[in-house]
Amino acid sequence: RPRVLSGIQPTADSFHLGNYLGAVRNWVSMQDTHDAFYCVVDLHAITMGHDPVALRNRTRLSVAQLLALGLDPDRCTLFVQSHVPEHAQLGWVLSCITGFGEAGRMVQFKDKSAKAGQDSTSVGLFTYPILQAADILLYQADQVPVGEDQRQHLELTRDLAQRFNTRFGQTFTVPSAYIVKDTAKITDLQDPTSKMSKSASSPNGIIELLDDPARSAKKIKSAVTDTGREILYDEENKPGISNLLTIYAALTNRAIDELLEMYDGRGYGDLKKDLAEVLVEFVKPIQERTRAYLDDPAQLDKILAIGAEKARAVSAVTLAAAYQNVGFVSPA
Ligand code: TYM
Repeated sequence: RPRVLSGIQPTADSFHLGNYLGAVRNWVSMQDTHDAFYCVVDLHAITMGHDPVALRNRTRLSVAQLLALGLDPDRCTLFVQSHVPEHAQLGWVLSCITGFGEAGRMVQFKDKSAKAGQDSTSVGLFTYPILQAADILLYQADQVPVGEDQRQHLELTRDLAQRFNTRFGQTFTVPSAYIVKDTAKITDLQDPTSKMSKSASSPNGIIELLDDPARSAKKIKSAVTDTGREILYDEENKPGISNLLTIYAALTNRAIDELLEMYDGRGYGDLKKDLAEVLVEFVKPIQERTRAYLDDPAQLDKILAIGAEKARAVSAVTLAAAYQNVGFVSPA
């Protein structure tokens, strides 16, 4: 079975629909076809300033949501990044083969640091993609299921793997990004040309899975749609309706064409009303299951302890090989 690894940041109280449709949904289905490793990347969540109490809560909330969304600890390895020390250790080694300019070209770094200003930009934000490369390479992942916004980080990961292998001998599998085109960029409901994002979207532009379902339904109904009245899939001229169609198709496992047939001759209002219902029915059981996992902290801890142990069984072997190949003396 090919290996996959992916990660998600615990930087909000709830995942949003983009996280689910762009990434986690694929993680769930890859459990049956791949040897799957998924982590909640808490080390990545402290690069922009954070509150310790919120971080701890959000990490547990993230794990509970992932379980509620369908990750099954019997079919995948689910763990918290900081429980596996090899991530930070390999991150250091990789940072020493990354060019300063190369890291500086990362678009997410440029955007986030420009917004924060130089004095508020941490070195951790700069080296963030190198740590992400360590996450992936430690597990010898073949594929990395992510949304479109992670493509450049995956390119860096591939470059670092190849560079290390060339300089120090074959050590890492060179991974590829696994990006499902249809759902790779769910857009902001109020600004359908930019991606739905916890940091950039306005509250009405983003659907949070754990938000009050009635509020989410309202957001769908007030989503910005396009001029004209015909329901067509056309990302360029009808980005608003196209985004709603993408969400609708993904949540109901229907093809877009099937939806177009269903809504032939009907208006935007019908589509929004139906999608709002679909969404409510989708989030309700997820919220219940998330609550149930949170209500049983002992079980959650046990799942994470097992996950960390399974992760370390792989990551320790890779780190030892990397240390050996880079020339460190093995401890006696
Ligand atoms: P993060 O936490 O921002 O997002 C988690 C996943 O959700 C995807 N995503 C989207 N997909 C479609 N449409 C959207 N609007 C949308 N918004 C977010 C992201 O592409 C991502 O797949 N750097 C990563 C976390 C990470 C990681 C890793 C990922 C750390 N180490 C190793 C893969 C492998 C991030 O910030 O994701």
